[in-house]
Amino acid sequence: MNNAVHSDALVFFGATGDLAYKKIFPALQAMIKRGHLEVPVIGVAKAGWNLDQLRARAKDSLEKHGGLDAAAFEKLSGLLHYVDGDYGDRATFDALRKELGGAQHPAHYLAIPPPLFGPVVEHLAKSGSAEGARVIVEKPFGSDLESARALNRILHATFPESNIFRIDHYLGKRPVRNMFMFRFANAFMESFWNRTYIESVQITMAEDFGVQGRGAFYDETGTIRDVIQNHLFQVLCNLAMEPPVRTDSEALRDEKVKVLKAMPPLDQNNVVRGQFKGYLNEKGVKPDSQTETFAALRLEINSWRWQGVPFYIRAGKNLPVTCTEILGRFRKPPAVLPASALKHNHIRFRVSPDVAIAMGMTVMAPGDDMTGVTAEMLASRHPSAAEMDAYERVLGDAMEGDATLFARQDYVEEAWRIVDPVLKNAPPVNPYEPQTWGPNEVHQVTPSGGWHNPTVAPPAKPGAAQAA
Ligand code: BG6
Repeated sequence: MNNAVHSDALVFFGATGDLAYKKIFPALQAMIKRGHLEVPVIGVAKAGWNLDQLRARAKDSLEKHGGLDAAAFEKLSGLLHYVDGDYGDRATFDALRKELGGAQHPAHYLAIPPPLFGPVVEHLAKSGSAEGARVIVEKPFGSDLESARALNRILHATFPESNIFRIDHYLGKRPVRNMFMFRFANAFMESFWNRTYIESVQITMAEDFGVQGRGAFYDETGTIRDVIQNHLFQVLCNLAMEPPVRTDSEALRDEKVKVLKAMPPLDQNNVVRGQFKGYLNEKGVKPDSQTETFAALRLEINSWRWQGVPFYIRAGKNLPVTCTEILGRFRKPPAVLPASALKHNHIRFRVSPDVAIAMGMTVMAPGDDMTGVTAEMLASRHPSAAEMDAYERVLGDAMEGDATLFARQDYVEEAWRIVDPVLKNAPPVNPYEPQTWGPNEVHQVTPSGGWHNPTVAPPAKPGAAQAA
């Protein structure tokens, strides 16, 4: 299929599920408000529902997540169709084919658990709904290298890679895209963003909440599979990749894969896992669970640019703040000045909750002696409500056939290759107190100069911020 063709219907499996409720309906309404959605939207689920019930669910979802816009909702209601039935039953897919009417290039969004991908894709093919179509799949894409390969085989039996869109919503986040822009639109960046000047890079994704009722899912998943192998590896690739030779999706994705290819498999000694106290009492969690709710990793990238510069990733639930932030620490200058004057310079990218890029410089501390203190030059702003949410962006891009913000097969497999040894032979989980920065053992995997613990200030007053 020509990738410039816009999908002429959106089918979403899992229409009565949690993801649809929290993310998909709000994204659809936002697309309508922007004039980006004009095609039939067909929800599929096995719930014994009818179309009116799905519309009521959509309304409730919008009221709870982002706000209902009466005009946009009316239009969405008009576009909505519903097919109820079992995903293993041919009749469900015949009914879907009928609802698709004359649509030639539907996008099938599988917002369903991965074990259901196989039967759904097979039935889509048999019922004639896969021809000329795209398929959009949600993370987690497999649970290790082997299962990811098996999923790829299932999808590739019906869809060519160019028609497969693997969602990682982090790629749809504006500040993550801005990281790429900032690197390659600023000439000065290139002069220091390499092993000669940078001593280490650390990425922290902290969440101040627990598993929020997703105990059963989380217990099968853990932090490394939930956010590190996907979201934070994507962030790392944006930071570490070389400039693409062209701006098309494949040239860009090639560069990301090259970063992963340069990374050796993770060594057990470079990982600390933690579990917050109280996790074992969560609904759906096994009483003796060894699943991590916190992980800190030290990674290597053996490329020309980065060899010898450790990249650290730390992520966890029930940490003191909710914030995703990156800190690139510079090597110290030669010791011409007294040691008290010498601090590390840094560059800081904040992805959420606010957006910031800051350069940390050493200046003279107040007083007369030669003591250095870090001052930041900061560009920051709070995202506006009118901005595209990550889900709206990735759904829209998939329907347009733009694969830039999606994980390619080779990328997904490389990412699993790196974490697989540790998933198969995991170091023990160490307990930590909720609302702290993880277990004490984290000192085993800590950048020189320490972890930078982000703080989150209340939103700045309008007018005080500049655009990042
Ligand atoms: C999801 C994870 O993929 O990303 C969640 O399953 C996590 O556990 C979430 O909380 C974080 O996404 P965001 O956009 O809220 O930072």
